[in-house]
Amino acid sequence: MSEHVSDSAEWQAVQGHAEKIAGVHLRELFGSDPRRGERLTAQVADLYVDYSKNLVTDEAIGALIALAERARLRERTAAMFAGEHINVTEDRAVLHTALRLPRDATLVVDGQDVVRDVHEVLDRMGAFSDKVRSGEWRGATGERIRTVVNIGIGGSDLGPVMAYEALKAYADPGIECRFVSNIDPTDLHQKTRDLDPASTLFVVVSKTFGTQETLTNATEARNWLLAGLGGDQAAVAKHFVAVSTNAQRVADFGIDTENMFGFWDWVGGRYSLPSAVGLSVMIAVGKEQFAEMLAGYHAVDQHFLTTPLERNVPALLGLLNVWYDTFLGAQSHAVLPYSQYLHRFAAYLQQLTMESNGKQVRLDGSAAGYQTGEVFWGEPGTNGQHAFYQLIHQGTKLIPADFIGFSVPNHDTGEMHDLFMSNFFAQTGALAFGRTAEQIEAEGVEPAIVPHKVMAGNHPTTTILAEKLTPSTLGQLIALYEHITFTQGVLWEVNSFDQWGVELGKVMANQLAPLLTADAAPEASNDSSTDTLIARYRSQRGR
Ligand code: F6P
Repeated sequence: MSEHVSDSAEWQAVQGHAEKIAGVHLRELFGSDPRRGERLTAQVADLYVDYSKNLVTDEAIGALIALAERARLRERTAAMFAGEHINVTEDRAVLHTALRLPRDATLVVDGQDVVRDVHEVLDRMGAFSDKVRSGEWRGATGERIRTVVNIGIGGSDLGPVMAYEALKAYADPGIECRFVSNIDPTDLHQKTRDLDPASTLFVVVSKTFGTQETLTNATEARNWLLAGLGGDQAAVAKHFVAVSTNAQRVADFGIDTENMFGFWDWVGGRYSLPSAVGLSVMIAVGKEQFAEMLAGYHAVDQHFLTTPLERNVPALLGLLNVWYDTFLGAQSHAVLPYSQYLHRFAAYLQQLTMESNGKQVRLDGSAAGYQTGEVFWGEPGTNGQHAFYQLIHQGTKLIPADFIGFSVPNHDTGEMHDLFMSNFFAQTGALAFGRTAEQIEAEGVEPAIVPHKVMAGNHPTTTILAEKLTPSTLGQLIALYEHITFTQGVLWEVNSFDQWGVELGKVMANQLAPLLTADAAPEASNDSSTDTLIARYRSQRGR
């Protein structure tokens, strides 16, 4: 690309619309267009998306779409789906969309039949999870498996734990899944202290099988298992399986590669839930419901690949995020699911979005010079309403927010769900339209208190409403955010698929580790702050 997207006339045009929108209120946008709430909506698979309460005019949306065309979003999307090496800094294809292609699809990448490979692994996962669920797979002492402990971190944890929690209504009540990620010894201790090793299966998940946290936890877990089962090494084969791209390291660790489920370097960690990384979820909900989740992902993939930008939901929402972040100066983006089952969804999205687009350098190595990668955060409603919503309603920050809700509850207790959802609908209205001083005065409020009660409104939200939280709608939601993230990366011209920024901390931790444990006090070798902190730590550890 000869000229950067940010140097284009289309970028300037969006900038012009951003300046104009400053003086416009959502009250006016709705007042002048009584059908805005029906018009600015779209459907993707089973997700109804209302983006009418965003701070945009039709003209601004048109300008954003023109910018997407200028950035060659369609071509870049096609390149990703076709397996071109769009992850240029690692020279890799980016093919998480291939993980959910149906069995009869074809996709050959770098000479390899990707669909066949994917379904081979899915079939092995299915056979294995059937055995665990039915009790055919037994522990070394003949006990059936009651608890699956997933050991992994980052993408090897956040996806599985989020999906397991989200789909608990669909899970086998006889098998519990737990997730150990942190190298803080507390995590493994808490998750195993009440378990019986004889009925526990560890799924060690690591794309590289070289991650310090995961290998340390897996080693400790193996010690715990062997201590509990009388030290018989042969027991490991019945209680440990691995998910990785690196068979050699799995074997070196002592896990039989017969019990390994593979994936490929073209699956990024944060995009890996629909691969073998989702094994613990498959064990919990069964292969059929896992397949439904994949079908949900695939429906959104197809929509993203084939729908014109004007109706392309991930593209439109990605463009709105760029609009707020880069052109209107928003620093963060709230994700507010009105479903307790989605209580880990924001945490999952944090890795997806922030590891993907937390970049300041463009594909060609030049400095972006504009805002990229907003901070994603959130909690389920209504809990968040009683915690941080005050700042969204009356604070000084621009915080676009996504409200995600479901019409039909997973557990129907009469009108409780209706009460819950009345909050969902009330919040986006209150955020958009607020309450004026005149309205408050008319209620007879004391003049000195009136300004404190004014709700300025004009806070943008997007509402995503689905009929019910199911494996399919969960897959749809995840794919939606994956492609929103991709769209933003394309507009910003960053590589959304590497994560060099997390490397330095890992290297430094490895260098510091011996200084914490050495018998003799280490020489001053770091900055004065770090040296002083280490000295204090060592003394409190009695060293
Ligand atoms: O810390 C960064 C990271 O590389 C993530 O991108 C990844 O999901 C996580 O570590 C875990 O990596 P692995 O699956 O190789 O253990």
